[in-house]
Amino acid sequence: MQIFHHIASLRDALKQERLAGKRIGFVPTMGNLHDAHIELVKKAQQTNDIVVCSIFVNGLQFGLNEDWDKYPRTFQTDCQRLRDANCDYLFHPDDREMYPNGMDTQTRVICPTMTDVLCGASRPGHFEGVTTVVTKLFNIVQPDEAVFGLKDYQQLAVIRRMAEDLCMPVQITAGEIHRETDGLAMSSRNGYITEEERPRVNQLNQSLNWVAEEIKGGRKDFEVLEAEAKQQIEEAGFRVDYFTISDSKTLDPAAVDDTEITVLGAMYTSAARLIDNVSLSLS
Ligand code: PAJ
Repeated sequence: MQIFHHIASLRDALKQERLAGKRIGFVPTMGNLHDAHIELVKKAQQTNDIVVCSIFVNGLQFGLNEDWDKYPRTFQTDCQRLRDANCDYLFHPDDREMYPNGMDTQTRVICPTMTDVLCGASRPGHFEGVTTVVTKLFNIVQPDEAVFGLKDYQQLAVIRRMAEDLCMPVQITAGEIHRETDGLAMSSRNGYITEEERPRVNQLNQSLNWVAEEIKGGRKDFEVLEAEAKQQIEEAGFRVDYFTISDSKTLDPAAVDDTEITVLGAMYTSAARLIDNVSLSLS
């Protein structure tokens, strides 16, 4: 695996690949790689000749009181995991390389829909940071295909919309949610969960599945269902950020005649904010 820290040298290398007719797949990450990230790399390998992974803890998408400085940085282990997965290229820029003019004056990419609800409501500016860095990374790598995980459902929906609206010549592909055996969605932030909390944190996933089953069984009283699920999570000892039954495409609250529904939830443990979702099709 070739590792690049600079845009110019990565571009040179990828230009050669492109000239040789290679199809390029891309998996952007913030590092601290776990099995779910590696699954995305494997997915990208299935439909591309070469795969580029990036590791960049993007300050622009973290709020002032969030965990940017303590976000786990495990570069050597990440490199080994990517080598073991036969990833071809790793791009690992620093802040100066990505934001040479500073973050404050960086030109931004704004997606005006879907970004101020759910995670966007409690993390103002977060999606603007994501769409901006993903646009920059797309411009640097110029991939044919980019793979994003369904765990961050809203992020994927926003990126799809951005790519469509801005005519970006890249295919956006979704990777399934990868979970621990008890259903907890894998996340770099799971390292913040305490031992005492760990046996109970899969309540978020259990409540999402319970609500999905109730809807499949014919229930349409979505607000009541949301309230019941919130209560289950609070009874397990966690503060709910949101728990919402949404239209899968628009992320608006689901209407009773919607057939494509995604149930999304976020909750706080003592030191982490965990998100998860489940999609269902009623047609
Ligand atoms: P990060 O949180 O490192 O996630 C990188 C990719 O891995 C994202 O597409 C995310 O959805 C996916 N992922 C994480 N956990 C997953 C799981 N349990 N199952 C499936 N996919 C999972 O998301 C980001 O980084 C950043 O916002 C980024 C897109 C890199 C922009 O900075």
